[in-house]
Amino acid sequence: MTKRCPLTTSSGAPVAHDNQSRTAGARGPVTFDNHYLFEKLAHFNRERIPERVVHARGSAAYGTFTLTKSLSDYTIADFLQTEGQQTPVFLRFSTVGGGQDSSDYARDPRGFAVKFYTQQGNWDMVGNNTPVFFLRDGIKFPDFIHSQKKNPRTNLPDPQAVYEFWANNPQSLHQATILMSDRGIPASYRHVNGYSSHTLSFWNDNGERYWVKWHFKTNQGIQTLTNEEAATKPAFGAQQDLVESIDKGDFPSWTVKVQIMTEAQAQDYYINPFDVTKVWPHSDFPLIEIGQLELNRNVDNFFAENEQAAFAPSNLVPGIGASPDRMLQARLIAYQDAQRYRMGANYNQIPVNAPRCPVHHYQRDGAFAGINPAVAGSGANFYPNDRAEQGAPAEVPDVAEPPMPLEQDAWLGIHDNRDDDNFSQAGDLFRLMSPCQKGQLVHNIAAGLHQCTDDVQQRMLAQYEQADPQYAAMVKQAIATYEK
Ligand code: NDP
Ligand code: HEM
Repeated sequence: MTKRCPLTTSSGAPVAHDNQSRTAGARGPVTFDNHYLFEKLAHFNRERIPERVVHARGSAAYGTFTLTKSLSDYTIADFLQTEGQQTPVFLRFSTVGGGQDSSDYARDPRGFAVKFYTQQGNWDMVGNNTPVFFLRDGIKFPDFIHSQKKNPRTNLPDPQAVYEFWANNPQSLHQATILMSDRGIPASYRHVNGYSSHTLSFWNDNGERYWVKWHFKTNQGIQTLTNEEAATKPAFGAQQDLVESIDKGDFPSWTVKVQIMTEAQAQDYYINPFDVTKVWPHSDFPLIEIGQLELNRNVDNFFAENEQAAFAPSNLVPGIGASPDRMLQARLIAYQDAQRYRMGANYNQIPVNAPRCPVHHYQRDGAFAGINPAVAGSGANFYPNDRAEQGAPAEVPDVAEPPMPLEQDAWLGIHDNRDDDNFSQAGDLFRLMSPCQKGQLVHNIAAGLHQCTDDVQQRMLAQYEQADPQYAAMVKQAIATYEK
């Protein structure tokens, strides 16, 4: 018989009894010296950390990114230099609005967050399965999320709030059209594309900057479900699909592509290249294939690796930067703030978040300092200092991002861009759909919109009309079927 390892307390002492508490006599009460019982109950009470305020439900796996085309002309990013170079990655898929125990099959964007563990730090590409977003200013994000989550009184889905927000914010129309289209409910996480959605940047060793959008195209093909099909699926189906595919060696993969725009092109492009409600049409900026991303290892502990994963758009590496996208700037602040709240100041020492390269800084202490002893730091704790001989770290001026010119007439104040062409690209998407896809789109819209006030319906119809008159006519007809 295999000899079992000893059961211990969390401080390592062998435990004699784990089925009975110590009691005063056979029928008497538990006594106050039951420290092992107290340890178990106290730890149990602390098993939860706050779930993510959005993207609470998700599934993740490890894998590899293989570069197939060098990007050294565009960027100094260390992991994008040599064809064949491989970088370990961690990818978390998610739904957005539901809590941790909600369904994998909600009509909702899917988060597509990739952590690249590069030799110059972690780069997080925190995107979605959609190339655009509902908003172009982060100041609206909390209102938007409130309107899409459950009603604060009934705790039930609230279609009136969903469409009332959209009726008041026509900038959401493009993304809302994608959401209501046949692609709004992916059949699994393996069958989605991923997009940076935002414009990010590259810079090279000549100090030249390029604007970049990232696309991860699923090699499994897009597969989707109708509302009716989704309703028959178990809530955990996408998690199960991902775990089982990887466990049996059927590794999902994505072809990685970028669109690249020069700073000069950006200056007079007819679309604001930093507006995340818009794509760059492929005909103007073709996709350039640069690599393959494969997922090939499941997590060992869902909580430690999935729940404690901390992705942040501010996790950038030399050669990859942000852009003037005002939504992106709001995100550069929001994520690390959320993660300090969820996991404490030292969340980057948790193994799933810890860089796979040396880390040297002057940050010290805080809850759980030393989870990763290499980072806790016993040397100099201030900078500048005279301690180079003792290995004290110093700045690396070579990796400075080139300066970014502002518009010549830039003035500080409120620049209202709410009406910056909210309709053309929603119309472009509608027009490229087949009759069957258009039918599904308006069916999905009407399922929610018919429950809204007449005023909200009319304002939404006015938006569809501006995207394409046929779009409005078809939605109107679909709503009418509920009134018969
Ligand atoms: P293209 O004809 O070159 O590309 C159309 C794109 O639309 C393809 O990438 C296709 O994806 C995608 N698509 C098809 N159906 C849907 C859907 N229901 N939801 C989301 N995407 C879908 O056109 P343009 O580049 O000129 O763009 C036209 C419209 O296509 C845009 O307004 C935008 O809505 C959409 N789109 C554009 C993208 C871009 O980066 N330019 C990216 C994704 C969508 P696939 O190749 O996977 O079939
Ligand atoms: C998660 C805020 C816009 C994609 C989160 C989290 C916050 C947040 C606080 C939880 C982070 C955590 O607790 O670890 C915001 C704000 C936004 C915004 C303030 C707008 C200003 C976007 C956009 C995208 C996006 C535009 C995609 C293009 C994601 C993804 C996650 C996430 C994928 C989940 C990451 C994971 O798997 O852990 N967001 N978000 N968000 N967000 Fe956003």
